[in-house]
Amino acid sequence: MQKSAIPFSLRLATSADIPALHSLIEASVRGLQKNDYTLEQIDGALGTVLGLDTQLVADKTYFVAEAKAACARIIVGCGGWSNRKTLFGSDHAPVREPEFLDPATDAAKIRAFFIHPDWARRGLGSKILEACESAARVAGFSRFEMGATLTGVPLYLQRGYHVLERIEVPLRNGAALPIVRMAKSDPVGIS
Ligand SMILES: CC(C)(COP(=O)(O)OP(=O)(O)OC[C@H]1O[C@@H](n2cnc3c(N)ncnc32)[C@H](O)[C@@H]1OP(=O)(O)O)[C@@H](O)C(=O)NCCC(=O)NCCS
Repeated sequence: MQKSAIPFSLRLATSADIPALHSLIEASVRGLQKNDYTLEQIDGALGTVLGLDTQLVADKTYFVAEAKAACARIIVGCGGWSNRKTLFGSDHAPVREPEFLDPATDAAKIRAFFIHPDWARRGLGSKILEACESAARVAGFSRFEMGATLTGVPLYLQRGYHVLERIEVPLRNGAALPIVRMAKSDPVGIS
């Protein structure tokens, strides 16, 4: 099936989606990150560095991608953006920075993208990213930044982001998770 013909739709996440999002995130991480991280890194990161930030749901800056199943719609992907300082991590991450950013001088944060393994490489991550960048532009941002997993880097490179720095995030089990801070700016005059 052509990517453009894949039947899914985007909407903002609500608090009713939270249980489904936790399941989706675990399936995504365990299924899609296994070539990039060890089991020890994944076990140490899930629920802290990798997981749901419910602040984004409350802020109405978190999207879900839904696909039509037999008799219902199921959530097959999620991702968001934020006008708060936190760069990455779930509700239980060791570092939380809820202060608001200034769109005139700061980069909006692109946050917490997770696609179900059965739906990977069908364009969902790209569509959610476009929706996030568009919403952040409406809020006045022209620069975007994220703490990307190694698994996320090819998507973000393909979408025009460049690498700023590589970071090792210490995990609760003694392992460390390499992530990559990436950024992109709109050309001057685009809004
Ligand atoms: C990273 C992730 C969100 C990408 O989502 P996706 O829906 O599969 O991405 P898309 O289908 O939109 O990919 C667009 C392009 O990005 C690149 N890309 C995406 N995943 C890739 C991969 N695993 N290997 C190489 N290139 C990849 C390709 O250029 C791809 O285009 P193509 O399929 O036509 O070659 C998904 O792999 C995921 O959920 N991973 C686990 C969780 C995670 O690490 N999230 C990132 C947090 S920062």
